Amino acid sequence: MATPKPHRDSRLAVEEMTERQAGREYARLEAEIKGHDERYYQKDAPTVSDADYDALRRRYEAIEQRFPDLRTLDSLSRKVGAAPSRGFAKVRHAVPMLSLQNAFSEEDVGDFVGRIRRFLNLPEDEALAFTAEPKIDGLSMSLRYENGTFVKAATRGDGFEGEDVTANIRTLKEIPDRLKGKNIPAVCEARGEVYMTKPDFLALNKRQAEAGEPVFANPRNSAAGSLRQKDASVTASRTLHFFAYGWGEMGEMPAQTQSGMLKWLKAAGFQTNPLWRLARSVDDMLAFHRDIGLERAKLDYDIDGVVYKLDRLDWQERLGFVSRSPRWAIAHKFPAERATTVLRDIEIQVGRTGALTPVAKLEPVTVGGVVVQNASLHNEDYIKGIGNDGNPIRGGTDIRIGDTVTIQRAGDVIPQIVDVVLELRPRSARPYQFPDKCPACGSHAVREEDEAVRRCTGGLICPAQQVERLRHFVSRNAFDIEGFGEKQVQAFHADGLVMEPADIFTLAERDRRSAKKLMDREGYGETSVKNLFDAIDARRNVPLNRLIYALGIRHIGETNARLLALHYPTVEALRDAATAAKPPGGEKGDKGNDAWQELNATEGIGEVVALAVVEFFKEKHNREALARLLKEIDVTALERPRQDSPVAGKTVVFTGALEKMTRDEAKAMAERLGAKVAGSVSKKTDYLVAGPGAGSKLAEAKKHDVAVLSEDDWFKLIGH
Ligand code: IVH
Repeated sequence: MATPKPHRDSRLAVEEMTERQAGREYARLEAEIKGHDERYYQKDAPTVSDADYDALRRRYEAIEQRFPDLRTLDSLSRKVGAAPSRGFAKVRHAVPMLSLQNAFSEEDVGDFVGRIRRFLNLPEDEALAFTAEPKIDGLSMSLRYENGTFVKAATRGDGFEGEDVTANIRTLKEIPDRLKGKNIPAVCEARGEVYMTKPDFLALNKRQAEAGEPVFANPRNSAAGSLRQKDASVTASRTLHFFAYGWGEMGEMPAQTQSGMLKWLKAAGFQTNPLWRLARSVDDMLAFHRDIGLERAKLDYDIDGVVYKLDRLDWQERLGFVSRSPRWAIAHKFPAERATTVLRDIEIQVGRTGALTPVAKLEPVTVGGVVVQNASLHNEDYIKGIGNDGNPIRGGTDIRIGDTVTIQRAGDVIPQIVDVVLELRPRSARPYQFPDKCPACGSHAVREEDEAVRRCTGGLICPAQQVERLRHFVSRNAFDIEGFGEKQVQAFHADGLVMEPADIFTLAERDRRSAKKLMDREGYGETSVKNLFDAIDARRNVPLNRLIYALGIRHIGETNARLLALHYPTVEALRDAATAAKPPGGEKGDKGNDAWQELNATEGIGEVVALAVVEFFKEKHNREALARLLKEIDVTALERPRQDSPVAGKTVVFTGALEKMTRDEAKAMAERLGAKVAGSVSKKTDYLVAGPGAGSKLAEAKKHDVAVLSEDDWFKLIGH
């Protein structure tokens, strides 16, 4: 279901709204929140982060506060969650299952304690104790015991009425059938959180993916999905856990404090979270929040904040509830889109174009509702603490393996490491050494000046780049082999038949000798294989510029390939020149050796391009792959352009539908005649050759007074 588009009023501050605007915005927010509730509670498929949801809810409540007349009996602020989904019997809660107010800042926590003091009219020196408990990110559950025996389990639902999931809950090993100890109240409802551990969640998703079933976004959703199964044996197959932290109906209270109740729940046979503490001041509470925030990644389960609860139950009673939450408790959330975790390793991935990208391998942690295990580290400089503009980032702090790092997720963007918690840096952590060899093929990985990216130079042999390189090699402006496109490259590469360009030309010979014939592959027959081999043979003769272009050297597009092919008569000559070339070493006055200067002086070839050529041929792997290819093909030198042609030195642009030649043919012809072919019209253009349907380029040409020729005029001009 699509999320409704934000209304234009949604940008207006609540304080500035007229009553009419507020009414509209209130209705819009109500619909949006209801949609989110339904997706969250009934479909286990939220589409917004908790932080975004909370923001909507705050805005809704702010409008309600300023315009109380808008508040109806139906107001969302009177409800918790959403109505139970169909399929399970309904259970009316004896005591409603309410929700918690949220605190997002340290100040909010101070305000919460201050409110309690005022409400209870306590003097400043009266000590207040709170339990500080991790806020488990699962789904809340009420478990009813009568005379010590488990009788019913119900989900929260809308807070008043939930779903009967007794059969499913019975499959959870951690939930006792009978309560332990003496003095068990006749009726006892234990409340707490059902959750799934992170490793179980990852394993479940793996199984789901393998079976072609949908995967869950996070452990919370998978716990909910696993519980809400009509067939309890499915629930049994998914390991779910339960932490008890509260109660509903309770005959005789077994303790007088929240901490006492936690101990009692444990004694009665429930798991309680072991990390809770008693906090005796706001500072204590905040310290717990900070500590647990840092622990978070190491925990086996997800937590999304800390819950503080006033310890004395008699005071809790006096404080009571306000709309849907108690006055005596508050949830101090972690910033939803950020989390800290430990950087386990840095992995270098080699992209299709040879770029080496560092990826952070993290202790899994949930950020904004999604489990994150990998994050982008961008490049070498980013790890060192240098931004794109060369200035320090994170105060110049580098990132090391073993560091505790803060990660951030924004929307669907790949999570990023935004900070390092230096106090937690292990003594043994060393600055990260970015590799200068490609991890996929061992070739040199080099960085161009002013480029942040380090690239593998083993273009022809690097497995990470092979498919992409081969695809380029057979593409239309390179070898252009009919019937040998992307699909064939993928398939032949996957089967190990074609790993490098030379393999294409030895395919027929190898097929003759092999018992496993190409002809027997799916989608092939005798004729199609013959056609393929013929098409390959037809390209054994290739113009030098196409070959140079096909090698896929960085910065060598068609134009540069042509310029090199015009200057160097053979690919061997280019290879030898590039291997002999020594670029300037950086000392003053060093201009590099003669071979470098010649390469650099090639018409139209600048330093960056020349360097890329040098890097390519410097790599032995590439020279060897080229040698293997040259054994299979004949290369024809390029016809030098005629300097005496009427269009020599002129700049020509072709546009519209040409009828007597293809665009590529037209381009090749013009270049043979010494013309430069450009893609767009400017005041430097001499001729625009326009076929039918020419549009904006024609208008541009008129603006710059460029001569416009028809296809026939063009042929006349060049004397054809
Ligand atoms: S106390 C009156 N304690 O957080 C409400 N809730 O946002 C009493 N939760 O509905 C709830 N850990 O599902 C409490 N230690 C904890 C919790 C906890 C997780 C969940 C619970 C609740 C939601 C409120």
